[in-house]
Amino acid sequence: MQTHLRTHTCGQLRISDVGKSTTLCGWVQKTRDMGGLTFIDLRDRYGVTQLIVDKKSYARECVLQVSGTVIERESKNKNLPTGDIEIKATHIKVLNEAITPPFTIEDETDGGDELRMKYRYLDLRRNAVRKNLELRHRMAIETRNYLDKQQFLEVETPVLIKSTPEGARDFVVPSRIHAGDFYALPQSPQTFKQLLMVSGFDRYYQIVKCFRDEDLRADRQPEFTQIDCEMSFVEQEDVLQTFEGLARHLFKTVKGLDIPVLPRMSYADAMKYYGNDKPDTRFEMRFVELTHLVKGKNFKVFDEASLVVGICAKGVAEYTRKQLDELTEFVKRPQIGATGLVYARYNADGTIKSSVDKFYNEDELKKWALAFDAQPGDLFLIVSGEEHKARKALSELRLEMGTRLGLRNKNTFSCLWVVDFPLLEWNENDNNLLESLRGRWVAKHHPFTSPKPEDIALLSSNPGAVRANAYDMVINGVEVGGGSIRIYNKDLQAKMFETLGFSKEEAQTQFGFLMNAFEYGAPPHGGIAFGFDRLCSLFGGADSIRDFIAFPKNNAGKDVMIESPGAISEEQLNELHIQIKKEHHEKK
Ligand code: AMO
Repeated sequence: MQTHLRTHTCGQLRISDVGKSTTLCGWVQKTRDMGGLTFIDLRDRYGVTQLIVDKKSYARECVLQVSGTVIERESKNKNLPTGDIEIKATHIKVLNEAITPPFTIEDETDGGDELRMKYRYLDLRRNAVRKNLELRHRMAIETRNYLDKQQFLEVETPVLIKSTPEGARDFVVPSRIHAGDFYALPQSPQTFKQLLMVSGFDRYYQIVKCFRDEDLRADRQPEFTQIDCEMSFVEQEDVLQTFEGLARHLFKTVKGLDIPVLPRMSYADAMKYYGNDKPDTRFEMRFVELTHLVKGKNFKVFDEASLVVGICAKGVAEYTRKQLDELTEFVKRPQIGATGLVYARYNADGTIKSSVDKFYNEDELKKWALAFDAQPGDLFLIVSGEEHKARKALSELRLEMGTRLGLRNKNTFSCLWVVDFPLLEWNENDNNLLESLRGRWVAKHHPFTSPKPEDIALLSSNPGAVRANAYDMVINGVEVGGGSIRIYNKDLQAKMFETLGFSKEEAQTQFGFLMNAFEYGAPPHGGIAFGFDRLCSLFGGADSIRDFIAFPKNNAGKDVMIESPGAISEEQLNELHIQIKKEHHEKK
């Protein structure tokens, strides 16, 4: 790392270097005044080295070039790789002054979220955030190593494309030259990678930015990165094997872990046993359906429910009333949407006491215990109602219980494939889709996903029952990747668009290029895309993807550092043929 300005980095020198002359460059992390001398911690990307200088003060975060001799420290710091030595400085040059930073640049900073985002370049000086980006870099390198060995070619695809209702809403870019026309930013390179297959590229990948105008969450950003992949002459099994290999390679090279063969779970089972198409399988606590057991005992709530379903939480029968009330409040929160929670304690003495004792006697409760395969000491938590809602609420409760019981260790990884997704999904009111797509069948994955051949006949009669050759890789309850075997036949693709409610003309104007390409010898093909940010945050043991992105957007989709999105000048607007509604102008 030697340059014309430095001989070593701040993380490099060891006891074996004692006696050497050195020149370091870095930022002043801390100064300590010790009578006649001053100790300075000098920091760079590689670490921290202690300097001893004649009494003089330097502002925090100013940039120094320091020359001196490496000496052995009297009181060594075992927590620092350079902790055995220090530099007796003979010459110090201030390369640049720094004003006081708005928060301390330490592992435990005093800066709040918003402040750190506004000064992200300072936040990035902190170890924690820098380490995340180093991990991200390593992941990208290892991804490329693996895919390169497997003969995948990295090909870039355009960022200014055409708006297509692939799933989420598009971000669009107005065209100056073509008045009234817009480019769209890709939600993924989906159609381009399929065209590359038609071109014969056979194995493609790209670590690529994608853009989706969706509601934000901890694991969603409006621009994010995919490891996008496609292969020709493959069946689903080939794709699963190849990308299970990628996951294995990443775990091995980046985390030193050997992961077991990924189990496969059907979408139907994932929903039945976990109420979720991305089950967290670090712990069991599977759903048990009680509907048939509990009906007809005059308990109206259960009698009127289409599903009564519960989980058995091991060893917490002694939860207090307060804890149970908390869980009830938890499931009743509007985002979770259950009307209530029924519980039963299987006490250590073998008795069972439920919150619905009025309706169910001990014998009946014993049957519940049997259904749950429970032991004395366990707690049963039961929700009921409309099937989909009840499963969703119980799924959230299961995760909450997993967290409370310490079953979701961030350093444990449980990976699986979820397969056999439905091809279509009835869209009632998904906020992330255009209004015009409400009350219609929409593609569960995307419109290029092929139905299972044996289900094609159901496309017209019972679209909801058609299963797709589609799969997701799930790790610790996070959907890290998803893909499918594609349609490569023009007629089937046309049929799919028809099922999705496109007229022939709409399908032709929006996707004609793809369907035409299918007429020139399209190979059977399929692929997958991984959410690279999600994969990195999982490997880094974090919940939010934000800290694995150098310059992320905040919860409101804004970059508060550069203040984007922002207004543009009247002149720019005019050139782009855009009129802003008056009320928006006035707001500014
Ligand atoms: P899909 O839409 O499932 O598939 O996206 C693939 C993966 O990308 C990640 N992801 C996101 N990560 C962060 N922020 C977001 N807003 C976001 N949206 C998605 C997820 C997801 O599993 N073209 C298809 C892939 C294919 O069929 O090959 C596609 O984009 O981890």
